[in-house]
Amino acid sequence: MKWLSAKYAYPLVIISVLVSILLQVTWLRQLFTAQRAQAEQQIEQIVINAARDNMYHSAKHVGITDTTLNPFLLGPEWGLIRRGFDGLKAPNMYKSFELADNSEDSTLIAFRFVFYHPKSTIARQKRRRYSSGLVPGFDSISVVHMHRLVSEQMAKMGIEKGFRYVLHDYTGTTPEKPAPAGGKYVSGRYTYNLDYLHQYQLIVESLNGYLWYQMRYHVISAVLLLLLTCAAFLFIIKLMRNQRLYADARVAFTSNMTHELKTPIATVSLALESITRYNLVQQPQQLEEYLAIGRHELQRLNLMIEKVLNLSREEDAAYPMNTMLYDVQTGLQDVVRSMELQLANAGAVCRLSLSPEPCFVNGDPVHLTNVFYNLMENAIKYAVQPLELEISCALVHDKVELHFKDNGPGIDRLYHDKIFDRFFRVPVSGDTHDVKGSGLGLNYVRNIIEHHQGTVTLKSEPGKGSDFIIYLPAAV
Ligand SMILES: Nc1ncnc2c1ncn2[C@@H]1O[C@H](COP(=O)(O)OP(=O)(O)OP(=O)(O)O)[C@@H](O)[C@H]1O
Ligand SMILES: [Mg+2]
Repeated sequence: MKWLSAKYAYPLVIISVLVSILLQVTWLRQLFTAQRAQAEQQIEQIVINAARDNMYHSAKHVGITDTTLNPFLLGPEWGLIRRGFDGLKAPNMYKSFELADNSEDSTLIAFRFVFYHPKSTIARQKRRRYSSGLVPGFDSISVVHMHRLVSEQMAKMGIEKGFRYVLHDYTGTTPEKPAPAGGKYVSGRYTYNLDYLHQYQLIVESLNGYLWYQMRYHVISAVLLLLLTCAAFLFIIKLMRNQRLYADARVAFTSNMTHELKTPIATVSLALESITRYNLVQQPQQLEEYLAIGRHELQRLNLMIEKVLNLSREEDAAYPMNTMLYDVQTGLQDVVRSMELQLANAGAVCRLSLSPEPCFVNGDPVHLTNVFYNLMENAIKYAVQPLELEISCALVHDKVELHFKDNGPGIDRLYHDKIFDRFFRVPVSGDTHDVKGSGLGLNYVRNIIEHHQGTVTLKSEPGKGSDFIIYLPAAV
């Protein structure tokens, strides 16, 4: 998948996330619009039904006892006629709708249209009278009843507050219904009783809160989906970046390592050559010194080879372990002794505190020795002042507890986990590291310790030294 390089991957990820956001927003908007249309229709129907029911109730009040009229007053056709009549408008036209006669024989409901001449004084009076906004007698009871009916149905819908009504005089001389602004919804005007001349109009201050509440599951699922998409992409990007870093580091490592492997070989060759050339067999003290150098270099070489081998192994693959009963304290003493020269060269002081109790583990002596060597080498390598290294070993419950505590530069909390990753080296200011290394030592340490069912942790703060703590299960 060479084409899927970071160059294309990042824009692709950004575009995908943006498209997902856009799609979700569009979908939510469409849903919102549809829900709003549906809610408006529902509210309108609530007002229509309440007006119809209220009018039906008002029939009794105005004295209509003829029950055959009831189905008529509740029927849809009547509602249509009323609304058609209510909606009729013309200049100087006054309409009225009233119970014109109600006798034992019949009930007369009259729709009346009166057209006044433009200059008529009655027209002006009517205008004044009709627009007075007064709600007389029964009408005031009726409108309360009407609003109660509306409120009950609105509550059933889930809207309990945030709405009110306005009354319009029947002649339509009050201003037209204003266009709804913001989330406001204004219903049509409906007459609600048979006798008086007002129209009821419902105003819902804001439908948005109600609509978002209705859509809450959709919104939550959309947000979750987006978060999941982003998380998945972030994860993939992180993985890709790690892979790239890993690949880069591997390349750097190979060239580094070739160099580093050459150095001990060259030193050992030189030492051997010197022994022969200067016939050092005759000078045992110098011979021992050269042999110590050779041993030390070979140990270093061995360690490097171990690290390289470790590289090609999968982290959880089985390690070929040569497990036996191993005395950790003796192992530590051997390592410290073999590093004496190096410690002395660095002007370091190493204190080894051992426990009077025997500390045995079931482990591979070579690998465990390498672990100790690695930690000591790090302490020497990264020291910024004459090194004081305290190594301690003790038996704590059923575990052997080891400390490698130095007075070095310390490590920021940020890197405490990372330093155990392959190739990771704590970034230094500037581009190049003064101290050479491959970033594999601690990874090797962790792998080996984990293969011994142990743990390795770090306690450190910048400027306060580092304490590498190892727990290994004690052999019983
Ligand atoms: N005792 C220590 N004090 C301060 N920093 C340390 C110490 N030990 C390790 N580090 C930091 O942790 C990093 C990782 O250490 P690690 O031993 O894995 O790699 P390395 O020493 O760089 O290379 P290698 O050990 O493979 O030659 C080091 O680069 C160093 O920055
Ligand atoms: Mg190291």
